[in-house]
Amino acid sequence: MSDAKIDRLAQDLLRINRGEMEVSEAKRLLQGIDEVELSLAEQRLLEKGVSPEQLRGLCKVHLEVLDRQVQDLKESTGPGHPLHTLISEHELILGFIDSVEKVAKAFSTKSSWSKDAEEERLLEILVESAYELVETEKHHQREEEALFPAIERQGITGPTRIMRLEHEELRPKKKALLETARKARQMEFETFNAKLQELSSFIAFNLREHIFKENTILYPAAFKAINDPFTWEDIKRKCDEIGYCCFTPAM
Ligand SMILES: [Fe+2]
Ligand SMILES: [Fe+2]
Repeated sequence: MSDAKIDRLAQDLLRINRGEMEVSEAKRLLQGIDEVELSLAEQRLLEKGVSPEQLRGLCKVHLEVLDRQVQDLKESTGPGHPLHTLISEHELILGFIDSVEKVAKAFSTKSSWSKDAEEERLLEILVESAYELVETEKHHQREEEALFPAIERQGITGPTRIMRLEHEELRPKKKALLETARKARQMEFETFNAKLQELSSFIAFNLREHIFKENTILYPAAFKAINDPFTWEDIKRKCDEIGYCCFTPAM
């Protein structure tokens, strides 16, 4: 694909994100988009200094189209395919984030430990969900060691670099959240609550954005760019070697 085409697409993306394009025109453009080109165009914008936050501010039309494309991708790959497993895990991880957020919200209205049954229940949910978030390490490891190298061999290196950095940023926060949840009762309420609020909002925002980028840009680009079935078999073999999360759905 030509450099000029990628540049034009990058400019169109900027216009869509700024809301400068008619909705019908944006829909037409985004539906017909090639995922590899989209990925390269986003990479170009990042290289030109557009911040990831700006790229994340996608308009509603773009979001609707992208959401449907994730479901289409899941259907076209089918159970057992590494991308199908990763997308299914993302759906569950988003649920764990929701649980953590609900607990954080419930504690945000309290000013001291009440030590009642309801508080016990909230702490149990927190320990469980934080444990499941720490379990996502296996998911990240499969991405970094099995999927990303294969994507990088296709010349798509910008998005995987960002995804690796985000995994690293999230790792200590997830561990700290689990530690905070487990040691809650030994802490002063205020210390516990401050940590809970800080960690849960960091994880909720960053992990949701991370999943969104992988689902809508990286995985579709990988599916399109890697078209040799043997490469996918090799990725699957490496994934099996690394192992799965306690919550990975049966394949
Ligand atoms: Fe990831
Ligand atoms: Fe992921």
